[in-house]
Amino acid sequence: MQHLIDFDQVTLAEWDMLLDRATAIRKDPAVYAESCRGKLVATLFYEPSTRTQLSFQSATLRLGAQVVGFSGTSGSSVTKGENLRDTIRTVSNYVDAIVMRNPMEGAALAASLFSEVPVVNAGDGGHFHPTQTLTDLFTISLEKGNLTGLTVGICGDLLNGRTVHSLLKALIRFPGNRFILISTKTLRIPDYIRNILTAAEADFTEVEALEGVIAQLDLLYMTRIQRERFESEEAYRRESGIYVLDSAKLALAREDLLVLHPLPKVDEITQEADEDPRCRYFEQARNGMYIRMALLYELLHHERVKQGFPKSRGEGRCTNPRCVSVQESSLPTLIEGGRCLYCDKEIKQ
Ligand code: NCD
Repeated sequence: MQHLIDFDQVTLAEWDMLLDRATAIRKDPAVYAESCRGKLVATLFYEPSTRTQLSFQSATLRLGAQVVGFSGTSGSSVTKGENLRDTIRTVSNYVDAIVMRNPMEGAALAASLFSEVPVVNAGDGGHFHPTQTLTDLFTISLEKGNLTGLTVGICGDLLNGRTVHSLLKALIRFPGNRFILISTKTLRIPDYIRNILTAAEADFTEVEALEGVIAQLDLLYMTRIQRERFESEEAYRRESGIYVLDSAKLALAREDLLVLHPLPKVDEITQEADEDPRCRYFEQARNGMYIRMALLYELLHHERVKQGFPKSRGEGRCTNPRCVSVQESSLPTLIEGGRCLYCDKEIKQ
């Protein structure tokens, strides 16, 4: 893989390699402490982040590489009106890999068109978050021993939760998984994800009550209602506080249930439930650093790739106001099969 925009870029053979490497690093991190000495990683975080940013920075330093970057745009030239294309063309001269979080959907794909070094998507708006998925898959493998034949419940904000979109797209690539998608009617998965599940003939159902299904699950993936993606505080309040995992619900679940959460959590898991040994999200966060070390190790040993100016494909214009191609005028059109390749939304004619 040259870039990581979503888990699609990772072949299953590459995934096995990442998994093996992350397992080895977790066992004895000291072996890798000098493995990327002399390399430099940029972390460009246009949106708030604790875990993803710090785990990437920790991962970089623990490989013996160094890190530069910004957190929030106030100290960067973005406030002077610089477009993403110019920022990436500039930064890619300085470093060996770029890790970027940006609120625009498709921003990582856009950045990859102009970068000579690998671009890692650390979250592009409510769209995708593949390194959280690597973290999730690594943790599931460690805890369950495999990624197949699982009954997976995903609960909360399935519309705006980018971790959910990337995780679903990844887990349908492993055979025998069954999905129970638990949300209110308003926060169901977006159409482009439903289309992907349907095209892959994935076994999935959409329900509203967690209590009714928790007993069936091997894995429960809880998520936060994504306040920052709502149009108003009032709209957020209508959806918040509906799903709360507590001891009473956990009492209905299997002994070998695995509960994961990408974090941060707000009010969707009680403190009492936190202490249940089936809740493994803090271990999951730790695993995130190891799998990011494995990923950076691969990417930092890549040759620099010269980029020609990317050509437009397809006709028309995306109308999704959150899409990078709508917010930035400097990008080529990328439309295929009636779909915007940046944000995956259908193009309405
Ligand atoms: C997630 C994210 O940023 O999308 N957090 C993370 O990266 N661990 C989940 C969230 O913010 O709810």
